[in-house]
Amino acid sequence: MDAVATPTVLTRASIVRPRGLGEALRLRPAGEHDVETVGAFLRGLSPEARYRRFHAGVAGVSDRVVGRLLTATPPARQTLVLERGRSRGLQIVGLAQYARENDSTAEVALVVGDRWQRLGLGPRLLAALAEAAAPHYRTLSAYVQADNTPVLGLLRSATDGLVTQYQGSCIRLTWAARATAAEVAA
Ligand SMILES: CC(C)(COP(=O)(O)OP(=O)(O)OC[C@H]1O[C@@H](n2cnc3c(N)ncnc32)[C@H](O)[C@@H]1OP(=O)(O)O)[C@@H](O)C(=O)NCCC(=O)NCCS
Repeated sequence: MDAVATPTVLTRASIVRPRGLGEALRLRPAGEHDVETVGAFLRGLSPEARYRRFHAGVAGVSDRVVGRLLTATPPARQTLVLERGRSRGLQIVGLAQYARENDSTAEVALVVGDRWQRLGLGPRLLAALAEAAAPHYRTLSAYVQADNTPVLGLLRSATDGLVTQYQGSCIRLTWAARATAAEVAA
């Protein structure tokens, strides 16, 4: 299996296999060199997926947003990408970030490409993100729309001790970073 060369936090094997498919995807920290592929990924999402991820900006994703994701430096922020293909044919199929909320809590957010959803990739992204954040933050949080059934199901099954707080049409979920499932059934 590939090892991630950068010293930024991803310590586990970086190969992820979508459930039921033979293809191997690579999970790694993102960098500024990913601006083109990450921009293409975010702009290629369905309006619903973009809205679910960003809670706004349904019409598009600005270069500023992409740049902010990719200039992230741990432990304040960390962005991971899940990609397929090689060299010039690289395609991002999933993206996940954590960002510092305060000294003990980081907020996480993730999105899987529409055609790649329901293949078990979301839990793998969440597990890698929690592993990256856990040395720095005791608690993880996520803000999700109250009707976002997929992510609510994912968080309920991949974490222990989930605390939910309703905030208007959104829910703030918190859990202990180390209570995120590291191994997820493929
Ligand atoms: C939330 C998200 C990351 C889950 O990723 P994923 O790779 O699809 O995760 P899984 O394959 O484990 O699927 C999660 C579960 O959600 C449910 N689910 C996923 N997609 C669904 C859909 N389109 N309709 C109904 N249920 C769905 C299922 O219960 C599924 O588990 P199952 O396949 O075992 O039944 C993905 O749906 C996504 O990117 N959504 C848009 C962005 C978003 O909502 N981000 C969260 C806020 S930051």
